[in-house]
Amino acid sequence: MASLKFPYEIKTVTEEEDKVIKKYYKDYVKPFIRVGPSGHISMAGYGDDAAAIYNLEVRPDDVWVTSYSRSGTTWIQELVWLVSNNLDFETARSVSIVKRFAYIEYPTQKPEIREDGHGATFEDFRTLPNVTSPRYVKSHLPLSLLPPKLLDTAKVFYIARDPRDVAVSHFFAHKLFRYFDDNVQFKEFWDLFRKDLILHTPIFPHVKEAWDKRENPNLMFLFYEEMQNDLRAVIDRVCKFLNKEYTDEQKQQLAEYLNFNNMKKKPMIETKQEDKEITFFRKGKSGNWVQYFDEEMTKQAEEFMEKNLKETDMRFPEVGSK
Ligand code: A3P
Repeated sequence: MASLKFPYEIKTVTEEEDKVIKKYYKDYVKPFIRVGPSGHISMAGYGDDAAAIYNLEVRPDDVWVTSYSRSGTTWIQELVWLVSNNLDFETARSVSIVKRFAYIEYPTQKPEIREDGHGATFEDFRTLPNVTSPRYVKSHLPLSLLPPKLLDTAKVFYIARDPRDVAVSHFFAHKLFRYFDDNVQFKEFWDLFRKDLILHTPIFPHVKEAWDKRENPNLMFLFYEEMQNDLRAVIDRVCKFLNKEYTDEQKQQLAEYLNFNNMKKKPMIETKQEDKEITFFRKGKSGNWVQYFDEEMTKQAEEFMEKNLKETDMRFPEVGSK
């Protein structure tokens, strides 16, 4: 198959940005890169494989779950996998989700000088062609960086979450994945996040891109907040989208399986951290960001949201409003 040219510009961050980034991301030797018109921030390694990922062959029976990091990806992955696999709770319990889904760009996102990794996947873009169907695929890349035929070929999920909750969750994840030292404060992270200097930023173009495609019959766009408000309704939507039928009782069982406290019992990453927030299944709440923002940051967050919501009809649902 002829390979497509990767259509976006890839450039390194500016010298000034690199200085700030390296102050925090201590292990990174190569400057981060910005990809495409939104300036999506990635580790340098992604640049080498962007075209290979863009050229991946998609199969009609693939199921892809995509999102901005820390938006509830694992939650919807588990839901989607169980609905697709006759509610096989036994396998879901015994085989980690990182073995059931290929995490496409994972190998491009590892620090150059650290080789231990954190075991977030067993398959990735390099091994995907050898994975037997049906394949379950996860990516945190914006849709435009994934194969252009994706939405014409396979079923795709995109989950979005209020950026303020994402920022808090991603802050703790930065410590969990040892990107940042333990002494970095949330205020510092937030400053970098709103200035698009954190990995995967900017968040709004990532989400809006998927929102604009939500009418595509192969895309199911959903919000983390919808899962919080009415998980049972989301289960119904996913079943319909995947053409699967289950009884009410089975769906109820599924909702219980997906309950935060149940999912938290099976750790994604073993951690010896004393800080209880430095864990994969941290709080599992919506609107909890208010506890981490002081007055000044709340004002900045308001401006950040207002500015980015101006030119879209997308709104993050309030939690508690069914
Ligand atoms: P918090 O850090 O706010 O707790 P991702 O899977 O995209 O990395 O997202 C992780 C976030 O989803 C974490 O948010 C995690 O706790 C939350 N999450 C995972 N499973 C969940 C569940 N069953 N119910 C509610 N939230 C869940």
